[in-house]
Amino acid sequence: MEILANLFEANKNWAKGITEKQPNFFKELSKQQSPKYLWIGCSDSRVPANEIVALPPGGIFVHRNIANLVVHTDLNCLSVIQYAVEVLNVQHIIVCGHYGCGGIKAAMGNQTHGLIDNWLRHIKDIYRFHQEELDALEDEEERFRLFCEKNVIEQVANVSKTGIVQQAWKAGKELSVHGWIYNLEDGLLKDLGVCTTK
Ligand code: CO
Repeated sequence: MEILANLFEANKNWAKGITEKQPNFFKELSKQQSPKYLWIGCSDSRVPANEIVALPPGGIFVHRNIANLVVHTDLNCLSVIQYAVEVLNVQHIIVCGHYGCGGIKAAMGNQTHGLIDNWLRHIKDIYRFHQEELDALEDEEERFRLFCEKNVIEQVANVSKTGIVQQAWKAGKELSVHGWIYNLEDGLLKDLGVCTTK
């Protein structure tokens, strides 16, 4: 018996559905990729990059981690940004957070969660930057929502300050960095209006 047979079955049907409409789709796409967008999002299973913006394979270059963080020492994320900007020449980097983010929620509490606490520390730092504004909100749900937004805004700044993006702007490349947030409850995106360009 095939392990996880249901997934292989689904995969076969998916590939068949695409090739029925566009017989050369995979052959053509296998030769090269030229996505216009880099998506930096949360690993949350409910926030799938391609589906949310209805882009087919080849449409979007993706990096996901817990709470969509761009940490200046994270070689994984930085390598993705470098490849996307310098080799693929993406024109837009989208940092997309989401309301109800478990990583953000965990960073708001004082419980320990093991290894991941080291990752969550980065989010706790962001809370400290905005402590006055966040603490002023009495409603915990409202505070949680604002914190999710603040995190996206900080990550847009982090992307913009990387040597990779700074170099691209100096070289006159068309490149913008956007901050978006996704609502799990209705499937809709909101632009936080913090777009940076050269
Ligand atoms: Co999340």
